[in-house]
Parts: sequence; C-alpha cells; structure tokens
Amino acid sequence: MLRLAVLISGRGSNLQSLIAYTAQNAVPAHIVTVLADKPAAGLALAEAAGIETKIIDRSLYPDRQAFEDHLILALEDAKVDMICLAGFMRILSPDFCRRYLGKIINIHPSLLPNYKGLNTHQRALDDGAKHHGCSVHIVTPALDDGPIIAQHKVEIKAADDQNSLSARVLTEEHKIYPAVIGALAAHLITIKTDQGQLRLDHTSGPIPGYIPGMEHHMQWPMPAP
Ligand code: GRF
Repeated sequence: MLRLAVLISGRGSNLQSLIAYTAQNAVPAHIVTVLADKPAAGLALAEAAGIETKIIDRSLYPDRQAFEDHLILALEDAKVDMICLAGFMRILSPDFCRRYLGKIINIHPSLLPNYKGLNTHQRALDDGAKHHGCSVHIVTPALDDGPIIAQHKVEIKAADDQNSLSARVLTEEHKIYPAVIGALAAHLITIKTDQGQLRLDHTSGPIPGYIPGMEHHMQWPMPAP
C-alpha cells in the first residue's frame, strides 16, 4: 500500500482529484495525511473525506529549518511513502529534498522546463506561446527542475486570458496527477535512487480505476509536448 501525504497551501482542487481517485480503491494507494503550511481551504476537502489533516503553520516557526523539522515529524508519524505537493507554496530546503529524494512529486502548471516558478499562465500568454500545459515531476533541490514524469499539453487560443487558460490547464492537472499516482501504485512507473541519482523507469499499460476525461492508458515514451 502506497501511503501518500498531500501538502497544500490553498484551495486543494488537485488534492480533491487525488482523493476521488484513491477513494475508488482501484490501486493500492491511499492518502494518509494532508498537511498545510497555513489554514488552507483545501483542508476541508480532506476532512470531508475522513482523512487526517494537520496545519504546520510556517508563521509560528522562527525559520525554515524549524518548520521543516515539524513537517518531518508529521510525515514520519503518518509513515508516508510518497509526498505529493499540490499547490504547496513553500520552497523546500535542499536537505529536505535530499532526505526524501525520489519520494516527493509536484504538479506544476506549465510544460516544464518552460516557465518554472510563479505566474506561469500569464508568462506563456505574454510570450505569445502556442502551447502551455502542466507537468508532474520529481522534486529535487533546484526549483521545478526534477525529472518529468508526465505532461499534458494545452493549446493556447487567441481569445485566452489568464483565467481561461489556467482553467483549461487545471482540468488537465486533475487528470495527470491521479494518473501518475495510479501508475506508481500499479508499478507502471518506478522511481529509483542510487547514490543520490534518480532513475525513472516506465512501462506502458492501463491505469487502474477511473479518472474523468482521461484515456486510461499510459504510454511511454510520452508524446512530446
Ligand atoms: C495548481 O495550478 C498547481 O499546478 C500549482 O498550484 C495550483 C494549486 O491549485 N502548483 P489547487 O490548490 O490544487 O486547486
């Protein structure tokens, strides 16, 4: 059983997609704890699903080290195998990233390596980009930089503004994040670490369970964005 922690800072729509997917019990994965760095709207989604939640309020700690020490305690307490960042607005320290190397994944609203950091939709629009999208990647000490596990491309339309584009990308986020969890739990994807090096192996195959609007097959190599 893959024991997941989901870390959030805000509304939690990606969290909700992971809750809905894992609640089907189609794969041996479940969310054992949802942690937030401040009071976050998304915590109510976890509570409604009967999942343990905890606020580790960054503003109560003098520095990042003290905050992360408490985060680690909560993660160890919950005996988690995998940490899913889902709109978690904190940069984790290199030590934290190394401690959990290969065990932290993130969803980012761009086709990485394009548009690391914040404000991705507006930056893509300002650049006149033809395409945008979302990525699930492994977290490493460099921001939004770890190996990419899955991406989905979205076409930018002439009439798009930040709101319409971010909404279309978010719809795809809600598919690829559960798909990655399904593929990890079904061993279609394996993340290996060897002396600080990451290796990602994948096999094509059907993803167990149902993800609304998603083709239930993961294909590798992924079509180029
Ligand atoms: C998403 O766009 C995610 O890609 C980014 O932050 C946003 C979180 O949204 N990292 P939500 O809280 O999951 O609704």
